[in-house]
Amino acid sequence: MDYRFTLLPGDGIGPEVTGAALEVVQAAGVSVSWERHAAGAAALEAGEATPLPDAVLRSIERNRVALKGPITTPVGTGFSSVNVALRKALDLFASVRPVRSLPGVASRHAGVDLTIVRENTEGMYSGREHEVVPGVVETLRIVTRAASERIARFAFELARREGRRSVTVVHKASVLKQSDGLFLACCARVGQDYPFIAAEEVLIDNAAMRLVLAPERFEVLLSENLFGDLISDLCAGLVGGLGVVPGANIGERHAVFEAVHGSAPDIAGRGTANPAALILSAAMLLDHIGERRAAAAITSAVEGVLAARRQVTPDLGGRASTQEMTLAVIARLRPSGGEAGG
Ligand code: NAI
Ligand code: MG
Repeated sequence: MDYRFTLLPGDGIGPEVTGAALEVVQAAGVSVSWERHAAGAAALEAGEATPLPDAVLRSIERNRVALKGPITTPVGTGFSSVNVALRKALDLFASVRPVRSLPGVASRHAGVDLTIVRENTEGMYSGREHEVVPGVVETLRIVTRAASERIARFAFELARREGRRSVTVVHKASVLKQSDGLFLACCARVGQDYPFIAAEEVLIDNAAMRLVLAPERFEVLLSENLFGDLISDLCAGLVGGLGVVPGANIGERHAVFEAVHGSAPDIAGRGTANPAALILSAAMLLDHIGERRAAAAITSAVEGVLAARRQVTPDLGGRASTQEMTLAVIARLRPSGGEAGG
């Protein structure tokens, strides 16, 4: 069967790593026509009136599924985050980031195997800020019962499917008594429907410390938007960095797959970006649509390349280019591949 998905190559290293992912998907034997669209600065440069053109949304609405490279967000001024806008416009309410220790990747911990579930549509990312009087700026942190219960149910369902024994809610209800108090109460209420899964809670600051000390104790981390963003990068750091952690933004009707990392302007255009995170995001996409065998094959090919340590990019201490690492993954997807490949 021929699939049709949307592709947003993104900015910075985006085109390099999405290009790698496309080659790997094809090598895994899955035939896809990619509808390519510019978003963010790339869209403005192409003459679009907005960084998130309607055509992008229409394409994802039609295809239901997209693979996305990182999009640069100007800091302080300029257009507001296309990533946030996209998640809101398509109601991609759940960000899912599996974080696992990987063979051959140097890190402080072994045995990390957790999934971060982050509420993706509200919290501190309401985008509602205003200057009350000169020198005083207010930001609205929105928490609703509907969104909190929805993400909690998503997290417990994911835990059940993944065979997890606990869900840990990360929050700051000690200070944000009303907003995180509501979030916490919603999570507790939904958790009652899953008496076979332990519902735990931890304050965000304490969670940060415990994740650094003993991350292997956590299974599913459930959190609102900002805290989920923070612990995502922290957890990536626990297993080898941003180059290896994939992700998905999932809604009722659409799903957009992208790495945790950003556009990495410091290394863009050099051909040295680690493609693993985007390749693994593409594997999550294939898993999502039911192409389980191809997804598993890609994941194990990436793990094989990481374990062998010979054809990995500089962020992992290697000297391979993006393309060399990609070819090594592809070699392992071919029956005659394996150690000899790439
Ligand atoms: P970043 O994730 O782009 O980079 C942080 C550090 O990690 C840099 O030193 C970078 O070289 C390294 N890094 C990231 N991905 C890598 C990879 N695949 N291989 C090797 N090294 C990698 O975060 P930063 O610098 O804070 O943000 C840059 C831009 O990306 C900003 O405009 C930000 O808004 C945007 N961004 C976009 C995201 C998205 O589209 N989902 C997510 C995060 C940031
Ligand atoms: Mg982030």
